[in-house]
Amino acid sequence: MSRVIVIASGKGGVGKTTIAANLGICLGQAGRKTALIDLDLGLRNIDVTLGLETVVLNHLGDYFEERMPLEEIVTTDERYPDLALLAAPQNMDPADLKEEQLEKLVRELRAAYDVIIIDSPAGVGPVFSAAIRLADEGIVVTSPTVSAVRDADKVLHLMEAAGVKYRFVIVNMLRQRLMKNGVMMTPEDIRDVLGTPLLGVIPEDEEAIVCCNTGVPLVTVRCMSGSALKRIAERVRGTALSLPRLNARRKGLFHA
Ligand SMILES: Nc1ncnc2c1ncn2[C@@H]1O[C@H](COP(=O)(O)OP(=O)(O)O)[C@@H](O)[C@H]1O
Ligand SMILES: [Mg+2]
Repeated sequence: MSRVIVIASGKGGVGKTTIAANLGICLGQAGRKTALIDLDLGLRNIDVTLGLETVVLNHLGDYFEERMPLEEIVTTDERYPDLALLAAPQNMDPADLKEEQLEKLVRELRAAYDVIIIDSPAGVGPVFSAAIRLADEGIVVTSPTVSAVRDADKVLHLMEAAGVKYRFVIVNMLRQRLMKNGVMMTPEDIRDVLGTPLLGVIPEDEEAIVCCNTGVPLVTVRCMSGSALKRIAERVRGTALSLPRLNARRKGLFHA
């Protein structure tokens, strides 16, 4: 049975696209046939994160406007044989998306892929609403700031109301020093406030910015955020891995 996982957030810039792209790579490498939908319509960027921007020929706009069938809008790359990217159009107004077009796309993908990951635009607009109605699982990404967590709470409630059965939170860009000094929320605080299980915790890491700018996926380089992402992918595959011991004062917390 295929799984449709939507990755969403209230606030923008919290790492949804980074997480979606790297999760897609890891699941593909683990032999799951994975489709990655960039639903940030008009603001395509997951192709850049994957280093595929020069490879993308066709995009979701071609499918939605019935110029091309699904097979022709899929971007693949020999580096990631089990990953198919459905790139966003660069000049589509998200307000033009019709829910039945997305429904048809997801139905077709369910028939051909094991996992469908939807990289949703930030916020709770109509594209997000359409995506959550089709999803089995929701991953809400938040940074550890009070305002981002408040927005994440709203996103989680909307997911629940839309019938998203399994809901998880990823805390990204954690700053250990601030957390230990007691001036930043801990992942446990966030889990408790949101009443939702944590799928993972990713530290703030310069490598994430470098990788994003150079199109080198984080999980292919040795770094703290890459390790955290690999563990998240393992959990998505169903392996019960412990979360890092967040109060432990030791180096290498995220390699735990
Ligand atoms: N753990 C992290 N540490 C530092 N920078 C990060 C981290 N995760 C993501 N970023 C950076 O933050 C920016 C926004 O990330 P992105 O994945 O595009 O967010 P979103 O899709 O939620 O808008 C990018 O430059 C990305 O490289
Ligand atoms: Mg994004």
